[in-house]
This record gives sequence, C-alpha cells and structure tokens, in this order.
Amino acid sequence: MSLLITNIGELTTQDAERRVLTDAAVVVEDGRFAWIGAAADAPAADEHHDAGSRAGLPGWVDSHTHLLFAGDRSAEFEARMAGEAYAAGGISVTMEATRAADDYELTRLLLGRVAEAAAGGTTYLETKTGYGLSVEEECRHARIASSVVDQVTYLGAHLVPPGAVADEYTELVCTEMLDAVRPYAQFADVFCERGAFDEDQSRRVLTACRDAGLGLRVHGNQLGPGPGVRLAVEFGAASVDHVNYLEPADVELLAGTWSGWDAASATGTPGVVATCLPACDLSTRQPLAPGRELLDAGVEIALASNCNPGTSYTTSMAYCVGTAVLQMGLTVPEAVRAATYGGALALGVQDTVGSIEVGKRADLQLLNAPSAAHLAYRPGMPLTQAVFRAGERVDGRG
Ligand code: NIG
Repeated sequence: MSLLITNIGELTTQDAERRVLTDAAVVVEDGRFAWIGAAADAPAADEHHDAGSRAGLPGWVDSHTHLLFAGDRSAEFEARMAGEAYAAGGISVTMEATRAADDYELTRLLLGRVAEAAAGGTTYLETKTGYGLSVEEECRHARIASSVVDQVTYLGAHLVPPGAVADEYTELVCTEMLDAVRPYAQFADVFCERGAFDEDQSRRVLTACRDAGLGLRVHGNQLGPGPGVRLAVEFGAASVDHVNYLEPADVELLAGTWSGWDAASATGTPGVVATCLPACDLSTRQPLAPGRELLDAGVEIALASNCNPGTSYTTSMAYCVGTAVLQMGLTVPEAVRAATYGGALALGVQDTVGSIEVGKRADLQLLNAPSAAHLAYRPGMPLTQAVFRAGERVDGRG
C-alpha cells in the first residue's frame, strides 16, 4: 500500500543538505519514504492526502522524558513559582505515588501521555525509569515502558531513595537492579548532581551499565556546575542532558567530541549531543541552557520536552522549539533540527528517523500554517494538524 501526501506548501526535510522544498510531495511505501520532490512531479499512489498548502516537517523526536509516573506535584510547582528552589528530593514524592499504581493504571497513564505527545507531532519517544528505585519497581516500570515507547533508558540512579545508604544503593543499581532491567532498556542514565549521585557514584553506574552493553547518557550540570559533562565525554555517552551550568572547558570538551563529524554532510562519528530542555529550565527557574553557544562551538544539540511531574510537565515539543527560538537565540531551522535530527542523534537512531529522506521511516507532521516559522511566530498555538508515523495517522484527528 502506498500513500501520496501532496500539496505541502513548505517541506522542511532536515536531510544532509537541510533542504526546504516548496510545493512538495512525498510518497510513502511500506511505512518508509519512497519518493520526495515537487508535487507536480509526484508519481501516483494507492492513497492520497492533500496537505492543503500546509507546512510539513519531520515528526518530533523527543529524546528525554520521564513519562512513567503517577501522582501530582502541582503544589511543589506553585511553591517554586513563589520562590522555593527545585531540589532532587521531590523525586521521592513521585516514587511513592508511582509504586502505589498498578500495572493497568501506569499503562493507562503512559498511553495517555504518549497519545498527547503524538497529537502534538511527536513520532519517536524515549522515556526513562527512575520513579521505582527498587529492583522490583524499576524492572516493572521498564517492562511497562518498553511495551509502549520506542526507547527505554534505565535511570535507577535517579535518587537515593529515602532510608537507603547512598553507596549501598549505588551498588544495587549496578548489580541486581541492572540485571533485572537490562532486558527492557537500550540506554542507562545517571542524575549526576548535588543531592543525587556524586562523581564517584556516577562513574560506578556508568561503568557497570556500559559493561552490561547499554548505551549511556548523563543528567549533568542542571542545578550547578559539576562533573556531568566531563563524565559524559569520558564515557563516550550519546548525550549529556540539561547542561544549564557550563564552564568554557565543558563547551570545549563537548566540541572536541564532534571533531570526527561533518555537520554539512551529516557523516562521520557522532560526538556527545548536548540535550537542552527549555521547558524544564523555565519551570525550575534555572538559566536556559546555552544552546546558541553550543551550536557556535560546533556541538550538535537536541531539544526535548523532559516531560515529568517535577520539573517539566509538558509533552509539547512545539513549545520547546518556540522557546528555543524566542529565548535561547536559535533560528527556527536550528530549533526544528534540534527537535528532530538532533533528538535522533541523541538516541542513536539518526539513520532511521529525524529527517525526511528516502528510506527513512515515514514520520511527518503538518502544521496549520504556511511555514515552520509559525512555531515561534505564533507561540503557544496548537498548530499541529496531522501527524504520520510510519505513514499512519497517529494524531487522533484523521
Ligand atoms: O530531568 N533531573 C532529574 N530528573 C528530572 C526531574 C525529576 C523530578 O523532579 O521528578 C529532570 O528534571
């Protein structure tokens, strides 16, 4: 079965040449892009979708979320807006609520959030464990998540649960808990921050998870300067996420990891992606991550929602893109790239998703707007009109 999506007013491909086509069309066959070009030249197909001159772009690749949770922390948010500081300890509130929810309830909540993300244009999703914090619960959460999302990241090292001894808990994360979660996860992560895991503990977690064959990422430099970036580079992590408090040496280290990558042709060996989480930065009143500086230094960046109940309760990638343009100094094409191809790089799936290219999975969104610029020009507006994942409508409006 083939599908022609035609009459696309502006098509942002995010291919190697970063082409933007006007009056374009794509043909999807077996869930993949089979043809891309001018609408006037489009071949026939079994089915036909008229985009009505709307703008088309790749589906969002949300490379950092914590979607598996129960409970509500709006009171904590309100307190923060009244001047309280964010602290890692809030994670244990969600841990209690999530442990108390059965499989059915957790799956229902997760599916609801995934549907919300899809309606907003997200077609590829990573999510983390990290609200279980015991062998049984981390394993349960990873199992449920793996049945719903595209990629699971093991984050047993999110917080030392109340009552546990930090070094003993770290050992558990690196042994029994890792063995239990391993079948369900592709990556592992550690919250390397004051109040969570220190440098030695983080190094221990990264070593064990690497030795178990998991890809790595690090929550780093979120609440203050620290060793997160350095560790991510040392371990060859796929990404370091948050990156709010960077020293010049951190930026230099990250830039160094991209020396074997040719950004112009998107070829070579990817370095450590710096994942910026602007919705989280606003919700925690932290300085926005220096996305402009990172890009100027030659670092590939990703934009992600970080949807979680503590620091960033939104699945809206459009909001992140708009914020990155309006407040982080990115251009619209840079922000769209970071939320699509950049996310795919952070997840190591850039050969499959993140851009509109022949052979890639047919993930595409249409906006109720003539150009992608409207994402920042009309911030906060629900512009997503149709979303295709592997060529199938997933926005619930079709
Ligand atoms: O990415 N930083 C650590 N983890 C989440 C927050 C989790 C929470 O507070 O529940 C984050 O911001």
